Amino acid sequence: MMIEVLPDERRRYRSVDFNNLKFGKLFSDHMLEMHYKDGAWGEPMIKPYGTIEIHPSMHALHYGQAIFEGMKAYYINEHTISVFRPHAHFERLTHSCRRMCMPEIPESVFLNGIEQLMKLDYRWVPKTFGHALYIRPLMVASQEYIAAVESNEYKFFIMTSPVAAYYDSGFQPVKLTTSENFVRAVSGGTGAAKAAGNYGGSFLPAKRAKERGFTQVLWLDAKEGKFVEEVGTMNIFFKIGDTLVTPDLDGAILPGVIRRSVIQIAKDWGVDVQERPISIDEVIAEYDRGNLMEVFGSGTAAVIAPVGLIDHKKKELRFDMENIGPFAKKMYQEITGIQYGKMEDRHGWNKNVSVGDS
Ligand SMILES: Cc1ncc(COP(=O)(O)O)c(C=O)c1O
Repeated sequence: MMIEVLPDERRRYRSVDFNNLKFGKLFSDHMLEMHYKDGAWGEPMIKPYGTIEIHPSMHALHYGQAIFEGMKAYYINEHTISVFRPHAHFERLTHSCRRMCMPEIPESVFLNGIEQLMKLDYRWVPKTFGHALYIRPLMVASQEYIAAVESNEYKFFIMTSPVAAYYDSGFQPVKLTTSENFVRAVSGGTGAAKAAGNYGGSFLPAKRAKERGFTQVLWLDAKEGKFVEEVGTMNIFFKIGDTLVTPDLDGAILPGVIRRSVIQIAKDWGVDVQERPISIDEVIAEYDRGNLMEVFGSGTAAVIAPVGLIDHKKKELRFDMENIGPFAKKMYQEITGIQYGKMEDRHGWNKNVSVGDS
């Protein structure tokens, strides 16, 4: 791996206002870049974060052959930064590569690249609890070629961006609405891949939901509009009595890394976890019977997001709009505890990176 280090006096970390971070707007000093051509990946390069030159004929701009990942690195102490489950994100990236007909990234480049970036830019990892350094791997079809077939050239990047705590003033339960006119994905399509186009297509329904006062869309399956799938950028869990139910991975749902973690931890606690189709009618029936104890979303951004309201057609399911439920709270504390090195990492999820002079 070639590494071009930005001289310390030109690094921007000193001027960052870590108390005033806006998600996804600020990028740290270095990035990784690697090119694929003639059937092989070239040498990965770490270099100062900056612009890239592209042509208007660049394939991904036309056909959306573009995939990405999203994970976070946490400040443990002045000598250690911890990345949460990078291997699980690598597995999902590999799945996305296959589905989108793109070349796979060597695991060593992915993991070692992240490690080297942490070593170079560890000062960008915010120290406050809840804050983190977001890591964004991205792969795009880069050939100058506008035929509607797969590209022969690709660029892979890893960039990082400091982000504030999702909750700045306590938990704010989210308000969800189902959509009668739009779907996110259909099994057999690209929903289970972290493909750029899945997001492009979701912005209009998300905007409409926001205009109606909701936080995000609760997606139902595309074939029957009957089964719950996931939320805008989160998977979803229902605590029905003592059982934790989450939609099974039917090929349309993005397999969240936090979803996987929630399922594992709940099982560790001895909770009955069911991954199965769950219809919106069942959710409503359990609510009406008083059995629906808690609903929460899971995802890298919020970790756990309590749901305060579900709106479906003319029905409104109302939960506590002020507080997070006890199960979701315990889960949030457990996962963030592991991420920040405060709780035992029983499953070896944290990838600790030694940084600074250590
Ligand atoms: C569509 C969608 N579903 C679910 C998730 C949650 O996935 P993860 O837990 O890996 O962040 C995300 C976020 O990455 C997402 O974009």
